Amino acid sequence: MGKDVIVACDFNSKAEVLAFLDKFTGRKPYVKIGMELFYAEGPSIVREIKERGHKIFLDLKLHDIPNTVKKSMAVLSELDVDMTNLHASGTVAMMEAALEGLTRPDGTRPLLIAVTQLTSTSEERMRDDLLINEPLDKVVMHYAANAKKAGLDGVVCSPREADKVHGACGKEFLTVTPGVRFADGDIGDQVRVMTPADAKKIGSDYIVVGRPITAAADPVAAYNRCVAEFVD
Ligand code: C5P
Repeated sequence: MGKDVIVACDFNSKAEVLAFLDKFTGRKPYVKIGMELFYAEGPSIVREIKERGHKIFLDLKLHDIPNTVKKSMAVLSELDVDMTNLHASGTVAMMEAALEGLTRPDGTRPLLIAVTQLTSTSEERMRDDLLINEPLDKVVMHYAANAKKAGLDGVVCSPREADKVHGACGKEFLTVTPGVRFADGDIGDQVRVMTPADAKKIGSDYIVVGRPITAAADPVAAYNRCVAEFVD
């Protein structure tokens, strides 16, 4: 599986995202469309960006009863995205149903990735709010194993967990890692960050990079720097 840099296009309007993507006249970035843009603009924004030749990771993090997730995944699959995701906490049955819904009549399907525990969830909140008393890294690894058991392609995780996930679930099990910052960059609200070069060394399959590219004075140069450090 080829390594790639996924640009988190966290914009809330079509005008903004298209103006941003217009800057990329060379290599077309793999684009992450999240809830903000999808809820603002609907499925047509996915089709439009796809028509411009970008690969798309549709980051909607589904979590509902298996039947609802299955039917929703079937709709998302028709949008011809390349990757989508759900919450592993929805159970193995929900993940299996999602895969079934996502698989097109011809047998093809987008990659399906699970969120284990959100990076915003601390061990303390997990214990006090969710009544999960195990250590956070044990929960993350257990959810990753559940995703693998359900037949999913990988997980979203911190680059710091990528190595461990590959050790437990196999090298082919994909690790999609946000929390990436340049060595000389601003970390913003991310806590456990890693440079693109280090994420490559540790074995991440895809890095998800938002503000270091979208808020850069020269986004194309920042993207090219990520590609040079992570892919080339
Ligand atoms: O701007 P920044 O590089 O921090 O953006 C990271 C992107 O990855 C955002 O879209 C954020 O929602 C997403 N993400 C994350 N941590 C996770 C899951 C997703 O930062 N655990």
